[in-house]
Amino acid sequence: MTGNAKRAEIEAVGITGDEVMPRHIAIIMDGNGRWATARGLTRTHGHRKGVDALRKAVRHAADIGIDYLTLFSFSSENWTRPPDEVRELIGLLKLFLRNDLAKLRADNVRVMVIGERTDLQRDIRDLLDEAEATTILNTGMRLVIAFNYGGRDEIGRAVRRIADAVKAGRLSPEDVDTAMISTHLDTAGIPDPDLIIRTSGEQRLSNFLLWQAAYAEFVFLPVYWPDFATEDFDLAIAEFRNRDRRYGGIAARRSR
Ligand code: IPE
Ligand code: IPE
Ligand code: MG
Repeated sequence: MTGNAKRAEIEAVGITGDEVMPRHIAIIMDGNGRWATARGLTRTHGHRKGVDALRKAVRHAADIGIDYLTLFSFSSENWTRPPDEVRELIGLLKLFLRNDLAKLRADNVRVMVIGERTDLQRDIRDLLDEAEATTILNTGMRLVIAFNYGGRDEIGRAVRRIADAVKAGRLSPEDVDTAMISTHLDTAGIPDPDLIIRTSGEQRLSNFLLWQAAYAEFVFLPVYWPDFATEDFDLAIAEFRNRDRRYGGIAARRSR
């Protein structure tokens, strides 16, 4: 199905007409472990199935013309999991980048990475750098991979950089406002997410995009990530399009 046909199909999903598509969708891919445990399988099995769901989600988002797709793949707190599981999760990201980068590049997807990178092992850092560098000229969907990412960690690093600049005399305290803070975050240049989807039924942010989520719409789905299908994706988008975003004002952006 072409992107336009898919878009038309979504537009037909019980919505009232001229609601806009989300420009930036961010997903907290949660529930791999429970998906596996419910089937008597190891958590590792769940993570492997999760990569298949990720691949499908990336393809679908690109097909329907989403500009930015951010995926939470490993949080700054996920290091507290058993070492074997951490190794597996990192191994899967490496595998994904090694296997899928050529296709992403050919599909005109631009890969961007957010999260703390300096403390990572050399090989994973090189892969992340390579994914960004070799797709930098691509003009299609931006796939933002949040790896070793935590919102508080990101804000902390931004504040430190700003403090350094002030100390060095390159900035004065009067220069510090919300717009300039945004430009010091890992997401500099990336618009705030319009829609944040979390699978697995949990209803929390878990330190994801704390600053950027100020006016995001949240959709929590009761499916485990490995089961996340394009129908679930479309459902979340349809739900988003039925929301009224007011940004603190009194009038809806549109009347219904
Ligand atoms: C999401 O699934 C994957 C990561 C957090 C990296 P989980 O591993 O959190 O699965 P549950 O939440 O334990 O079911
Ligand atoms: C959030 O899920 C992190 C990712 C999906 C990468 P977690 O499973 O780590 O979050 P908590 O522990 O349930 O809050
Ligand atoms: Mg979880």
